Amino acid sequence: MLTVKSSDLKKAKMDTLAIPVCEDKSIYHDSDLKAVIKKAFSLKEFKGEKDETVTLYDLPGIKARRVIFWGLGKLKKIDRESLRTMAGKIVKSCIQKEPANIWFAVPEAKINGLETSSVLKAMQEGAYLGNHLFDKYKGDKKKRPLKQINFQVAAGAAGKLRPISKRVAAVCEGTTLAREWINIPSNDKTPEKLTRSIASRAKKQGLKVRVLNETQLKQKKFGALLAVAAGSHSKPSLVILEHKVPGAKKTIALVGKGVTFDSGGLNIKTGNSMVAMKSDMSGAAAVAATLINAAKIKSKFNLIGAIPIVENMPSGKATRPGDIIRSYAGKTIEIGNTDAEGRLILIDAISYVAKTYQPQFLIDVATLTGACVVALGEKMAGVFSSDDKLARAIIAAGEKTHERCWQMPLPEDYKELLKSEFADISNIGSTRWGGAIAAALFISEFTGDTPWAHIDIAGPAYSSKESAYCGAGGTGFGVRLLAELLERLGA
Ligand code: BES
Ligand code: ZN
Ligand code: ZN
Repeated sequence: MLTVKSSDLKKAKMDTLAIPVCEDKSIYHDSDLKAVIKKAFSLKEFKGEKDETVTLYDLPGIKARRVIFWGLGKLKKIDRESLRTMAGKIVKSCIQKEPANIWFAVPEAKINGLETSSVLKAMQEGAYLGNHLFDKYKGDKKKRPLKQINFQVAAGAAGKLRPISKRVAAVCEGTTLAREWINIPSNDKTPEKLTRSIASRAKKQGLKVRVLNETQLKQKKFGALLAVAAGSHSKPSLVILEHKVPGAKKTIALVGKGVTFDSGGLNIKTGNSMVAMKSDMSGAAAVAATLINAAKIKSKFNLIGAIPIVENMPSGKATRPGDIIRSYAGKTIEIGNTDAEGRLILIDAISYVAKTYQPQFLIDVATLTGACVVALGEKMAGVFSSDDKLARAIIAAGEKTHERCWQMPLPEDYKELLKSEFADISNIGSTRWGGAIAAALFISEFTGDTPWAHIDIAGPAYSSKESAYCGAGGTGFGVRLLAELLERLGA
């Protein structure tokens, strides 16, 4: 869907050419581009200020039908995210107009320290992701995504930039796959259905897939995972995806929370808080998409994805507050609240993965707590880690992809709050404050010596409003972040 070309603007047939321009500096060397930009700037209504735009038709000197000029504002203010945003907005505006083909002019000059390769990458990410629509359930499909988005670069540069473009498309396809999974309503993604969907996608990509079904989970004593699934008519599973590389020295394990619907269980959610709970499998979606990406881009180390999939429902068979269950690791857990279910399925999956694969790093991704959203808002994830270097790598990766992460503490003395009168540990803290920390500390009791990080994505995983390069609903948060992180850890 993304192409990189060096075409002759005088001859190439284009319906739409989008030219991002700066307010205070020229960022092109090409004389044809410079000439049309000069035309746009001769208009009173266009100065190149941020998000200012003007469309001109049938300009002399180039063959494009229409040219969209888009202001980037001052050069010093431009970063990767403003380039993504610009490209996303332009693509969205073109989806409405339905042009047959669209081209982006890629700035030739270095932009605020960013090389052309980084500029192209950011623009392609915004364009690809902005082109994603979720209209599976609409009868009348008014909009159609663009089939191809072309990027015009300086003569001779295309060859070197094409591999970047291929990788961007692969990783962003993972993000849109995660978005699709998240947006599917829970009646169409029961644990059985989501399990099948993930397994078949993964197999298609050449990953090794193992699915532990309910019987096997019972045999192997996944007591915490089974306790969460008890109230639902649907059967739980643990999906294990493996990307194995012969001779690889490192194994990294990812664990994703896969609650296909979180009603809260017997501690049923009230008011509006249940509305978006089809998205409680966003961690699972991010991990599955990351494994699929790793296979696609041929990651150089072993990667394990472990995805516990359940539905949290109230019923006569549901786990009760006060029940005491035995986890896979053997520790007993008193259920203080059935709505604190994510940590229960995570710790069983984590214990299993640590024991079976002994990974060098273990990272879990989960829409775990409302408290994390209270702390950091809806656009940032909380990172908790036993390994500061790993936390820093996650945060740095997120800065680059604009999937922002903020490190949160794991204070030893707060473990006090998880004490249970009757069992080894309680699944909730004894105070309502610091809920994101209590949840992370609970998980930390099951990670042993494995360097571990927990990413709480309850805020950024889902958005009721659309943004520059994402529709309303699942955002696919974590997929680009993990791809970037794996590249860093592998280096
Ligand atoms: N899935 C929720 C967390 C959540 C909240 C995700 C808002 C996305 C948006 C989780 O299972 C949950 O219900 N957590 C409880 C924990 C509490 C009972 C200790 C919470 O955050 O209220
Ligand atoms: Zn819950
Ligand atoms: Zn939940």
